[in-house]
Amino acid sequence: MTVRIALIGGTGVYDPAVLSDLREEHVTTPYGDVGLKVGRLEGREVAFMARHGQGHSVPPHLVNYRANIMALKQLGVRSILATAAVGSLNLDMEPGDFVFCDQFLDFTKSRAQTFFEGGPGGVVHVDMTEPYCPELRALLGKVAVALKAAVHPIGTYAVTEGPRFESPAEIRMLRQLGADLAGMTGVPEVVLAREAEICYATVCMVTNFAAGISPHRLTHEEVLKAMQMNAAKICSLIAGTVLLIDPERKCLCHEAVRGPVAGPDNNGGRSAVVGGRAGARNLGGAVPEEER
Ligand code: HPA
Repeated sequence: MTVRIALIGGTGVYDPAVLSDLREEHVTTPYGDVGLKVGRLEGREVAFMARHGQGHSVPPHLVNYRANIMALKQLGVRSILATAAVGSLNLDMEPGDFVFCDQFLDFTKSRAQTFFEGGPGGVVHVDMTEPYCPELRALLGKVAVALKAAVHPIGTYAVTEGPRFESPAEIRMLRQLGADLAGMTGVPEVVLAREAEICYATVCMVTNFAAGISPHRLTHEEVLKAMQMNAAKICSLIAGTVLLIDPERKCLCHEAVRGPVAGPDNNGGRSAVVGGRAGARNLGGAVPEEER
């Protein structure tokens, strides 16, 4: 059975607790090898990847985001639910709350952000009007409400380079720019998923108020503790949402690069660069034709 759904576990989510019949898979991609697990959830094959590796051994700025997303694309994944521990800049978004972010602000500095490096791979300027899949976010919202979880259906996630936490002055700046949340991993993961035409949504779990808002200094232990306290809720949310995902997607995520399929040339009338037609549709030849 093809794996159509994947979970990316962030800080505090290292175990695919919701899956059974687990097996290890190793996927070779042009960006490096990736180890992940594949298991079942009520008859659905689901991949699980720990973003920071087992035991949180990979810091946010060194995660191989391209290899991770490419590995999921090569497996045939069409929908990704990712978790992220985040600090809150918005007093209405409290520790323990879920936020299904709909926008991001990118303050990362050193990360490879694209699969399309020009040359035979083509040049793509992918649209970011709706970076997070609206269908997945709606499903998450539905399940969260049924679970009676405290949830915010929209939010702007500022992604900082890390691995340090932000200074209070940075948090004040991000707040003025419209950020609700601060975390270290959302970009380029969401961007690469979009380039790979995979539906993607992030389950942000607020673990703390951000620096300068929190009455005390921040520690990674505090973040882990908050994640542990909410682990059962996160598992229920993810499991409930996976069961609702429709493999036949009606959103536009699957045509983010190629554009709508409109004729024999599949071009939809778009330019080769914006629509990414010229060489871009196969992500550098790494993805089998039937999975594109
Ligand atoms: N800032 C950045 N990343 C985070 C935070 C934070 O306050 N909390 C959890 N991840």
